[in-house]
Amino acid sequence: MPFPTLPEPGAGFIVSGTVVHGEKRGRALGFPTANIALARGNLFPPEGVYSSIVRFPHRDTFYGATVSVGTNPTFPDIASIRIEAHIHDLDELLYGLTAELRLLHRLRDMRRFSSVEELIAQMESDVRQSRRLLADLGCLTPTRNAG
Ligand SMILES: Cc1cc2nc3c(=O)[nH]c(=O)nc-3n(C[C@H](O)[C@H](O)[C@H](O)COP(=O)(O)O)c2cc1C
Repeated sequence: MPFPTLPEPGAGFIVSGTVVHGEKRGRALGFPTANIALARGNLFPPEGVYSSIVRFPHRDTFYGATVSVGTNPTFPDIASIRIEAHIHDLDELLYGLTAELRLLHRLRDMRRFSSVEELIAQMESDVRQSRRLLADLGCLTPTRNAG
């Protein structure tokens, strides 16, 4: 099936960049993320958690993802804004690849949690909500563009 089927063509905030190394905490939390270094000319999206589609142009593949934009305030050692994509149904090393993120729906604000357990519980709920939303939009993952 061709992908994606969206209610409005061109919907969402689009950014692109390269997958770079993060703090490597994500996998231990149960939610590995691809950290995206924005390419020149891209604007930072507002901080928050988003339901998204990720495209890898060189492979012409699309995935659903839940994306976090912010300074990860639960971990005070992070000073700069990070864009991190937890890509659904993909467990692969992606470093160095170009990724294009289409942020379709803002789920919530970025928050500081007083424990890692609370953050994990919230991420579980975010990913569940994000998958449901993408399914409702007709975005099936993972898939390759037929066109
Ligand atoms: C769905 C999702 C929601 C997130 N929400 C928050 C949040 O509200 N607060 C926060 O401090 N970090 C949040 N994060 C970021 C995590 O703290 C971060 O992914 C984790 O520390 C791993 O970072 P690393 O890839 O640099 O190791 C979120 C990440 C994801 C994937």
